[in-house]
Amino acid sequence: MIYDVEEKKKKAGEKAVEYIEDGMTIGLGSGSTVYWMIKRLGERIKQGLEVKGVPSSLRTEAWAREFGVPLVYFSEVNRLDLAIDGADEVDPDFQLIKGGGGSLLREKLVADAAKKLIIIVDESKQVQKLGSFPLPVEIVRFGWENTVRKLSTFGCNPTLRTTEDGEAFVTNNDNYIVDCFFDAITEPEALHRELKLLLGVVETGLFLNRTNKVIVGRKRGVDILER
Ligand code: A5P
Repeated sequence: MIYDVEEKKKKAGEKAVEYIEDGMTIGLGSGSTVYWMIKRLGERIKQGLEVKGVPSSLRTEAWAREFGVPLVYFSEVNRLDLAIDGADEVDPDFQLIKGGGGSLLREKLVADAAKKLIIIVDESKQVQKLGSFPLPVEIVRFGWENTVRKLSTFGCNPTLRTTEDGEAFVTNNDNYIVDCFFDAITEPEALHRELKLLLGVVETGLFLNRTNKVIVGRKRGVDILER
């Protein structure tokens, strides 16, 4: 079963590399589906493809180095040609929940700088309505208890993310993540706007109105969805 899901992620990740052209600067997302994309990209680079990548997390940076994908500092790049990233949920309007791996802030900064965003997922990530997956919200560490209390007034059950050792999970930006359990998110844009106004919140895992293409890995192949 686990093998099955990995195969679907691999199919989606490898397919995305077909959209990468010579000379492009690529935003490299984060997560296990992106792993397959970077691995395949490394193979294409060995065959002569010339591209540069901007990683959205320290783990992605390590994978890029492992597979020989040349990197460039985000600060040196004005605009990325394309960003490719995974997601935790994708709805029919291409609205997303991201941040299951805790990299949502850098992922959003990278996606925002890109002309196009391709999302790669296995079919289990497709949902009719967002919200079954707890919404990750990145918050500053100072006064986090108060921020969590305030988050609970948004109709969710907010839980500070912890590591396997029971320590608070700390992001690459030195912040905390709160996973907000909603029954369903019916108005993602309004929710995102309101959460952003809450003092202590840095960013939400709602990625709205920015995805151009979704590549869905299935057993029989991939579906390419465009809007
Ligand atoms: C990382 O913070 C996330 O946004 C990932 O892109 C998302 O969780 C999908 O990850 P997987 O590809 O590992 O499912």
